Amino acid sequence: MTRDTVQRELPKASVAESLAVLNDVFIPNVAKGVLIRRPKVVGIAERLGLDRRAVHRLQQLNEKYGSGPLMLQVPGEKTMALVLDPEHANRVLDQSPEPFATAEQAKRSALAHFEPDMALISHGPERDERRRFNEAVLQTECPVHGLGERFVEVVKQEVDELLHDTRQRGDSLDWGTFFETWARVVRRVVLGDTARDDHALTETLGKLRAAGNWGFMHPGRDSLRDALHERLRLYLRRAEPGSLAAEVARVPTNETTQPEQQVTQWLFAFDPAGMATFRTLALLAAHPEHARLAQEEAASLEQQPRPELSYLRACVLESLRLWPTTPMVLRQSTETTLWENGAMPADTSLLILAPYFHRDDRYLASANRFDPDLWLQPEGAVEWPLIPFSGGPGICPGRRLVLLVTSTALARLLAQREFRLDPPTRLLSSKPMPPLLNNYDLKFKLDAY
Ligand code: HEM
Repeated sequence: MTRDTVQRELPKASVAESLAVLNDVFIPNVAKGVLIRRPKVVGIAERLGLDRRAVHRLQQLNEKYGSGPLMLQVPGEKTMALVLDPEHANRVLDQSPEPFATAEQAKRSALAHFEPDMALISHGPERDERRRFNEAVLQTECPVHGLGERFVEVVKQEVDELLHDTRQRGDSLDWGTFFETWARVVRRVVLGDTARDDHALTETLGKLRAAGNWGFMHPGRDSLRDALHERLRLYLRRAEPGSLAAEVARVPTNETTQPEQQVTQWLFAFDPAGMATFRTLALLAAHPEHARLAQEEAASLEQQPRPELSYLRACVLESLRLWPTTPMVLRQSTETTLWENGAMPADTSLLILAPYFHRDDRYLASANRFDPDLWLQPEGAVEWPLIPFSGGPGICPGRRLVLLVTSTALARLLAQREFRLDPPTRLLSSKPMPPLLNNYDLKFKLDAY
């Protein structure tokens, strides 16, 4: 960087433009619920196409101000910037947590309601230890987790029970029914079979997430949080074979690790995986040519104990590209950082809005189409930021486990039944994929093959 870069100032949005970003990007995302979705608001956002509006707003600012990063004018001491350039997005993610900390202020105030010591909102040596622990238990680098065979078995059992129940319900499937099954799978995978019917645990976490949606505006529910952690410690002490709790018992920890708070994140983060699975079912129902390929692959689940299911994984990733469940990836700079266009002060919150990159029809030919091939290339082949699981050293350490569980669930469903959207016009391959797909009102009719 030259002296000139240091002296130049980054472009700054006007007050009116900053308010428009607040209105089109922040308010709708916060209203939908950052930590637990509010289904009614999701429905409204879908009908009004609010997610498209957010992408358009950032595209307009990009056309006007160029690559940025673009400083916003926000009230008070806080500084905030929009990342508008693909290379900048990659840089911010690659250079996390220094000088771009994952522990961004707004994220901290939301997640601290139930997991104040979780890796994502920790920094320095504490973050290093908690990240190490997460990677070790979740086996981040393994395409199929060491307990994969057991997890496949759990998914098969629960999906079979679900399909049995749907026969009593007139061969139809809605979100509520699917989600009950999903929550059982999650509790068994994370905590073990004795947690299968511990709905109270999921409900307690739901209440804390609802408080977290309000960030610093909610006083917090400390006794509920302590009760949740106490219950999780009980499951961790039990360390049931074949669950992540058993892995926790095998991995070294110290007083910094706080395993129960990392486990809280796992339980919470499996929720969006259920949403992605249900949306993938809808995508496949609307795209019969892709459904055929998925069904062929699904058959391999019967022949191998834990197949990799790469096509179904690509379909899930496509659902997450089209409708990312973490649309706002936030970082906070820990020092002054230099850019081609000038310097950014320390303590700036940087927003990478995933849909702005995922749906950029100026650069991506299939921005608004369902195109699983995008994910069938070797990892790292695409430099464009497609970041449903974030990227760089802060990338989701659970992503391969998520893809294992979601692809297995889909394979088991598709191997036994054909899924039709109800009504069939809910999602159409002949039209661009909508800016948001409300998973809460999706319904399917199930046919025998
Ligand atoms: C569809 C499901 C999921 C998606 C889309 C997803 C996405 C993400 C994203 C985008 C981040 C980074 C957030 C940020 O930088 O602010 C993240 C972090 C994380 N995720 Fe996931 N996640 C999912 C499920 C899971 C599951 C099931 C687990 C555990 C079993 C998990 C464990 C974590 C952890 C521990 C972090 C913090 C990593 C760190 O700060 O180093 N995630 N996830």
